[in-house]
Amino acid sequence: MTTTSAGVDARDEPRRGPADSTFVRACRRRPGPHTPVWFMRQAGRSLPEYRAIRANVAMLESCRRPDLVTEITLQPVRRHGVDAAILFSDIVVPVAAAGVELDIVPGTGPVVAEPVRTAADVERIRPIDVTDVSYVDEAVRLLVAELGDTPLIGFAGAPFTLASYLVEGGPSRTHSRTKALMYGDPDLWHALCGRLADVTLAFLRVQAAAGVSAVQLFDSWAGALSEADYRRFVLPHSTRVLQGLAETGLPRIHFGVGTGELLGAMGEAGADVVGVDWRTPLDVATGRIGPDKAVQGNLDPCVLFAPWPVVEAEVRRILEQGRAAPGHVFNLGHGVLPETDPEVLTRVVALVHEVSARPAE
Ligand code: CP3
Repeated sequence: MTTTSAGVDARDEPRRGPADSTFVRACRRRPGPHTPVWFMRQAGRSLPEYRAIRANVAMLESCRRPDLVTEITLQPVRRHGVDAAILFSDIVVPVAAAGVELDIVPGTGPVVAEPVRTAADVERIRPIDVTDVSYVDEAVRLLVAELGDTPLIGFAGAPFTLASYLVEGGPSRTHSRTKALMYGDPDLWHALCGRLADVTLAFLRVQAAAGVSAVQLFDSWAGALSEADYRRFVLPHSTRVLQGLAETGLPRIHFGVGTGELLGAMGEAGADVVGVDWRTPLDVATGRIGPDKAVQGNLDPCVLFAPWPVVEAEVRRILEQGRAAPGHVFNLGHGVLPETDPEVLTRVVALVHEVSARPAE
């Protein structure tokens, strides 16, 4: 007989733990008590408790302090009752650990001191291991202990989105220098993305070893590319990252903005769940992604500024369209905007749970 430490027959116990959470079940296309919900950028400036704790600490510094990472990651879980936590960090954290000099400037985003444009620049991006990001390893372990049955999502930036920040030197609307390098020197482009894929994979493996329950690969700006160019210049590198995580057995979420034309390819990269922005209805998206993957999304973050009846109608529409997919994780179509009223987010969580509640089998 299998017994737990408390001496109870495990067969009589409901299965518990983050690996059997509503969120992980939905990622694996298994039924659960309701549709799980979390929000990209749920930890951040929309929360007064976040603004308070960050008042005198720079962004990168806060990402390197396990005590702060733990507290900030837990804030939205306590406040909103979301079904998953996401590690508080940033996509440029592992790139900085790999030796690239950069900062995260408030109101702007990542800014790179010397943009990466030559073979010598690419050579300077060195591989990382757990000793380079020990603060992430420690934070994940602290969080897993604190979170109990609530799953923790680990994440990293995908090679294209990271390359864009490195080549441009900062945020860009057109990604023109990035594309100039991509089209003008494909060998150098692939060398750069190869290095970034190594860094990303190592960073995600650290998080997996420390105990995260799922991972999300953010290719936020991949929607700037045609499908043909995405397949040629990006897909091989993102595939290497996602396939490299197969051995962990963790659900892998792959997300980008404006990727309506890329959804099929982003699924092919090795995702279990494809994140969808607000432009593509989830039933249309699942038609493009196929029946063997779950979807995540896709409330327009700006809808949260509308009167509640509008928010409610949109949440109901998305839950209905999400039923076409074999698994649905409710989320926004992109991150929470800093001006968002956090009480509206709490109401959305409650509404998703209520509307999607399924009777126990
Ligand atoms: O709650 C969560 O989702 C976890 C935290 C998280 C942050 N960054 C914290 C953060 C996550 C998942 C990210 C990923 C990230 N960072 C992405 C991919 C997701 C996306 O939004 O598409 C990108 C593109 C970045 C790069 C980046 N970092 C940007 C564009 C910004 C915003 C700049 C600004 O000030 O408006 C950052 C900074 C950043 N990362 C903040 C937070 C909470 C704001 C920093 C602050 O509080 O001053």
